[in-house]
Amino acid sequence: MEMVKIKVKRFNKDKDGFEEYEVPKGINVLNALEYINKNYHANIYFRSSCRAGQCGSCAMCINGEPKLACKTKVEDGMVIEPLKNFDVIRDLVVDRTPYYKKLANLRNYIERKEYPEDLENIKPDDINKVKKVRGCIDCLSCLSVCPVRKFTDYAGPTFMRQLARFAFDVRDEGDREKIAYFENLYNCTTCAKCVEVCPKEIEIVHHAIEKLRELCFKKGYYLKNHLAVRENVLKYNRSVEKDKTPLLEEVNEEYLVENEKMRVAFFTGCLIDYRLQNVGRDAIKVLNAHGISVIIPKNQVCCGSPFIRTGQTDIAEKLKKKNLEIFNNLDVDCVVTVCAGCGSTLKNDYKEKEFEVMDITEVLNKVGLIKYKPLDATVTYHDPCHLKRGQGVYDEPRKILKSIPNLKFIEMEVPDQCCGAGGGVRSGKPEVAYALGKRKAKMIFDTNVDYLVTVCPFCEYHIRDSLKKYKEENNIKKDIKVMNIVSLLSKVV
Ligand code: SF4
Ligand code: SF4
Ligand code: FES
Repeated sequence: MEMVKIKVKRFNKDKDGFEEYEVPKGINVLNALEYINKNYHANIYFRSSCRAGQCGSCAMCINGEPKLACKTKVEDGMVIEPLKNFDVIRDLVVDRTPYYKKLANLRNYIERKEYPEDLENIKPDDINKVKKVRGCIDCLSCLSVCPVRKFTDYAGPTFMRQLARFAFDVRDEGDREKIAYFENLYNCTTCAKCVEVCPKEIEIVHHAIEKLRELCFKKGYYLKNHLAVRENVLKYNRSVEKDKTPLLEEVNEEYLVENEKMRVAFFTGCLIDYRLQNVGRDAIKVLNAHGISVIIPKNQVCCGSPFIRTGQTDIAEKLKKKNLEIFNNLDVDCVVTVCAGCGSTLKNDYKEKEFEVMDITEVLNKVGLIKYKPLDATVTYHDPCHLKRGQGVYDEPRKILKSIPNLKFIEMEVPDQCCGAGGGVRSGKPEVAYALGKRKAKMIFDTNVDYLVTVCPFCEYHIRDSLKKYKEENNIKKDIKVMNIVSLLSKVV
């Protein structure tokens, strides 16, 4: 029988550390733990029940991520620990009591005064909405990874999912929006880490957080600062105030190259049009240098992301309609973005689009990377949540950075941990945004690099501010420049 070695975290009154065991290759982690107890008399404590991915009790941290032990095959070198961010009772058993207490506090049952008389009036649509958020198996995986729950006073993803479930249930009479609001619904950055780990693939962000915020907005449970963003868009069709000449007013409508390999339309997004014009100019230069012609529709507007994420869907629909009228009628190979938020919104929320959307790092890899000039520097990369989890783009920026001669690429501790800017949190709750931003800043300073590179103007702004604040608070001398990947590339094309 072929064997593999795995490490298991032990914690009891005599032990606190890892033990290594040999187990048969190809079995699942749950069977492996039972094998260890039987063959090594190890007496490891863990939970399990259904053995079929249905009860959620066997969730544990496997190779750093929460997984169901009964659904995960053992691999050589695997590391098995209890779920993170819970108190450990013994070995792999965490204390679930706070979870059950919180559920009870949220009144985890249908609230109504009288038995409903018109049950036949419940429509299939009503049931479908509830269905999308009710498949939870109480595994606690989402709670164990939510960065906002870890660093701020936020109930956490599965509780918001449960509140959404009751808010959508036409039989329920409770004011679930009010509870969600006071449990800090607006702290969620929509980073989607909870979605990534959910074994039941519940779309907590789109089907619970954003929908709850939509209901909250209608009932008047919103953040004052989000209304200011609304005013900007009503005035300028942009989510930020106009304080200098926008990119779209200063650039040409097209930048064509000879023997073009591809023709793209550039979707600038609000921050690049109104604040980071240099990033827009760098993007055009870099695209042209790769043999790509660029078309820039001048009447494009905000993609609507800030409004979808904050529940102001009335505005988002209008913006979407305008952009669809413009971009559906262009003769281009694709629409390119240099902003993770815009890209994710166009890809996932513009269901009626007739064009392909690509992040700039995807486009450059697709046409083929060119020979770059050498750059003597060190660099680390921050994965914007809406690029990695929103669009599945992870390798492309790394391939680009690693192909620049002399550039030394250093990975930070958790490159895809949210920086705190998304989901309207930077505008609505700056203190929450910084609670996450300072963790990101520490990780970045730990790499001791010259440049932090990303592909999102919101992350770029927020990380720059967080590094500055963290530097002052901790008396750090080192300066780290923050830039979009196109700005770094503009130095080497
Ligand atoms: S999207 Fe991110 S911040 Fe929001 S609940 Fe999920 S893990 Fe937490
Ligand atoms: S929402 Fe998904 S990850 Fe969270 S507890 Fe339920 S099943 Fe587990
Ligand atoms: S034992 Fe029930 S989900 Fe694994």
